[in-house]
Amino acid sequence: MPVTLSKPFSRKFSVAPMLDWTDRHCRHFMRLISNNTLLYTEMVTTGAILHGRGDFLAFNESEHPIALQLGGSDPEALAKCAKLAAERGYDEVNLNVGCPSDRVQNGRFGACLMAEPALVAQCVEQMRVASDLPITVKTRIGIDEQDSYEFLTQLIDTVKSAGCDSFTIHARKAWLQGLSPKENREIPPLDYPRVYQLKRDYPELEIVINGGIKTLDECQQHLQHVDGVMVGREAYQNPYMMAEVDRLLFGDSAPARTRREVVEAMYPYIQAHLDGGGYLNHISRHMLGIFQGMPGARRWRRYLSENAHKPGSGVEVVEAALQQVNCD
Ligand SMILES: Cc1cc2nc3c(=O)[nH]c(=O)nc-3n(C[C@H](O)[C@H](O)[C@H](O)COP(=O)(O)O)c2cc1C
Repeated sequence: MPVTLSKPFSRKFSVAPMLDWTDRHCRHFMRLISNNTLLYTEMVTTGAILHGRGDFLAFNESEHPIALQLGGSDPEALAKCAKLAAERGYDEVNLNVGCPSDRVQNGRFGACLMAEPALVAQCVEQMRVASDLPITVKTRIGIDEQDSYEFLTQLIDTVKSAGCDSFTIHARKAWLQGLSPKENREIPPLDYPRVYQLKRDYPELEIVINGGIKTLDECQQHLQHVDGVMVGREAYQNPYMMAEVDRLLFGDSAPARTRREVVEAMYPYIQAHLDGGGYLNHISRHMLGIFQGMPGARRWRRYLSENAHKPGSGVEVVEAALQQVNCD
């Protein structure tokens, strides 16, 4: 399989991996809003890639720069997947060391790996051997009662020695028992200073901060202290917050597409998906938030939600929904 060499990219601004949300339709849509944002896939387990039915690594060329997030803890399986990711043309492979769901804990990966730095290091090392792609780690600041700064730096030290030089830190800990994944994104308090401290103590590492970030103003504040910001829920629920990323964070001079232009730019992609036998709502569900805060936003959402799932729905449904809004 031909391997296309990836263009250089930056982790200054990225959209977080989000299961069920950042699928390839979502990523294509987000790419029409920002050219430079690094986009992460949903977490894909090594089991799904190596033994599942279906192609779990599929993406569109339009999505570059794109990072594959892997879930797993078997170094050999992770290495195989990292190799496949390189062959398929991903720009980065990220290991999930932060997800607290029960399902993930049973598989002994995600956040519970924070307690096993040596295993994480082994995973990273084997992935690096198997693939030339950058191997990064996404983690939290702690788990359960293990939430000291030393606990975090022990993980960083060990994984760094395996050759990982880029860490994304969700600035809150996770409780492995008793909280749902959703609660684990809301209840443990955010501690940004701890992530800033990490950057001060490890200036040679790339440190990306994540958790609770909603505006580009906030991003710019964080960027005074760390190398990058990763935004999750806000980028999904209010995707147009990314419209100024290219100009403000990457110095591009080209004006951003308007909201309406972003929607219209989706038409050929939607049509191709429909022509291939796909359904409109698989794509349009990711577009509901584009008019967030604008006049007619609720009518846009309602029209799409009520109509896009109907059999035979096509681009004309999106056109009709657009007529419900009174802004560009
Ligand atoms: C619906 C949803 C699914 C998520 N799935 C993943 C995932 O697959 N892998 C991961 O590392 N984090 C996952 N997360 C966590 C996000 O990547 C991010 O760390 C978290 O939402 C905090 O960032 P935010 O406050 O900007 O949303 C998910 C979050 C949400 C809301």
